Amino acid sequence: MYTVRKVAEDLYWVGGNDVRLALFENMHPIPRGVSYNSYLLIDEKTVLFDAVDWAITQDFIRNVEMVLGDRELDYLVVNHMEPDHCGSIEELILRYPKLKIISSEKSFMLMHQFNYHVDGHEDQVEEGDTRNFGKHTVTFVAAPMVHWPEVMMTYDITTGTLFSADAFGSFGALHGALFNDEMNFDRDWIDDARRYYTNIVGKYGPFVQSALKKAATIDIKMICPLHGPVWRNDFGYLLDKYDKWSRYEPEEKGVLIIYGSMYGNTEYAAESLASLLHDKGMHNVRVYDVSSTDVSYLIAETFKYSHIVLACPTFNLGIYPPMKNYLNDMKALNVQNRTFALIENGSWAPQSGTLMSEYLDEELKMMNIMDETLSINSAITDLDVPDLNSLVDALIEATKE
Ligand SMILES: Cc1cc2nc3c(=O)[nH]c(=O)nc-3n(C[C@H](O)[C@H](O)[C@H](O)COP(=O)(O)O)c2cc1C
Ligand SMILES: [Fe+2]
Ligand SMILES: [Fe+2]
Repeated sequence: MYTVRKVAEDLYWVGGNDVRLALFENMHPIPRGVSYNSYLLIDEKTVLFDAVDWAITQDFIRNVEMVLGDRELDYLVVNHMEPDHCGSIEELILRYPKLKIISSEKSFMLMHQFNYHVDGHEDQVEEGDTRNFGKHTVTFVAAPMVHWPEVMMTYDITTGTLFSADAFGSFGALHGALFNDEMNFDRDWIDDARRYYTNIVGKYGPFVQSALKKAATIDIKMICPLHGPVWRNDFGYLLDKYDKWSRYEPEEKGVLIIYGSMYGNTEYAAESLASLLHDKGMHNVRVYDVSSTDVSYLIAETFKYSHIVLACPTFNLGIYPPMKNYLNDMKALNVQNRTFALIENGSWAPQSGTLMSEYLDEELKMMNIMDETLSINSAITDLDVPDLNSLVDALIEATKE
């Protein structure tokens, strides 16, 4: 059976892992790799639900051939045509020339744009259409912008299996484990799942909300996403996370401190703030250096926590560039509904706090900015202690609300 895993009666996972890829979308670090999931249904017809990235096509084809035995591949359902799932589509067509590809109109349009030669293989479907493969009947649900505009999900009416495309996926190679109950998801996977969702789909909260509303109307027994583990119990845990993330509601009351610093003085102020928070009883505190933490991690933490302190030097009359980059990313990903406190530093005209405040207020949505701020002239001294104390007290009060 090599790396194939049986998912349920008639259904097999035939995907693979890429642990050599450093950056997902050539942007987000994936130190634990990523899986590309593909599922093969063996019924009167043989049906593959999505394919994989070109990088792992050799393993994938081996898995598909192994499960098919001497049978042909009749159908490929493409829920999401992004190249990380469709990179192997032409290889499939070459090997299975009678293959029919079931997908949406937009998806076929995009396949043509990408020069995937699918002419003569198209079987176009719309939301609500059904297809019967023998014992199994499936229906299609449009899920636009749950990563891309062409995305659909496929629901197996016979078994209650939802092929959910990128939704409910995660970074991280599977390394043999497949189901959420074969791992400690909340300990080992949630951070990667959050980082995946917030950076890949985070911008499209309202679209995810409408997909969740559709999902609420069907009886789901299993969720098969395109990356990460398959879910076969504890759906409430996962749906609650998605609901919060897509409504931009924090998961936890806590203080996230993100600082930038060239010579270490703003860093020292950030560490002083963290110490004082703990000293006064607030223990849910996270501290990150904006320069040495990839912004994808900062975005994920921003989705998680309720209160965020931004601290950075003034830089050529502007915001310290790595901090500006993080703020821009927050805007790009539509982060909203958080409370911020600001610490600025400067040696001759400190104004990074005012500038960050203006950015949050003008460029982002529903951001609450606390009155208590700290303005440092190069390095903190005893003179800054009262402001530091008021900031800490205000944060502790605010996180109790
Ligand atoms: C390239 C550069 C530009 C700077 N621009 C400003 C500025 O416009 N206004 C200001 O008050 N300080 C400016 N500074 C000074 C720093 O903001 C200041 O020294 C700060 O205390 C550094 O904090 P740190 O020790 O956390 O790096 C600049 C420093 C550098 C290196
Ligand atoms: Fe995608
Ligand atoms: Fe994907």
